[in-house]
Amino acid sequence: MSTASEVGTEPLVTVTTTVNGQEVTATVPPRLHAADFLRQRLGLTGTHVGCEQGSCGMCTVVVDGEAVKSCLLLACQLDGRSVRTVESLAEDDRLNPLQQTFKEEHALQCGFCTPAFLMTATALGQQGRGCPSREEIREEIAGVLCRCTGYENVVTAIERWFAEHPQRAEDADPSPEALR
Ligand code: FES
Ligand code: FES
Repeated sequence: MSTASEVGTEPLVTVTTTVNGQEVTATVPPRLHAADFLRQRLGLTGTHVGCEQGSCGMCTVVVDGEAVKSCLLLACQLDGRSVRTVESLAEDDRLNPLQQTFKEEHALQCGFCTPAFLMTATALGQQGRGCPSREEIREEIAGVLCRCTGYENVVTAIERWFAEHPQRAEDADPSPEALR
């Protein structure tokens, strides 16, 4: 449970959350949004920020298994919740299967949107569903705007990942120990 304290006139809130398998406790301003918390407080700059108003999807992370735009969430709303960012995907220098498939399918150009697509697909993979159609993939990734790729290769990469990695739920959701 978060608690409030005062520094000067600004009330601060204590948040305890699990980020990429690690429990984190921090004292934050109540209006700090989750994207800034992840980037500035925790140094997880793989979560990108574009519009800061819920339009571009660049800031997408996974919260309790759901793809969420972290600029629309306050840091204090992460209290008691489990967050995954793109930093949790690769192990050491080894890309995970989803990242590898993005690479092989040339599903990125400038790469600014790539963490958001990866985390959207990761959340989708955790839902335990069968292979979605290309149309369904397009609907799922519609919240992430990419100005470079035309989306075709992004859809192909996600489609191939679903087809070739039936263990994707485990890939997408390793144990907290594996994330440490
Ligand atoms: S930065 Fe969050 S939706 Fe654009
Ligand atoms: S690859 Fe450049 S914005 Fe998507």
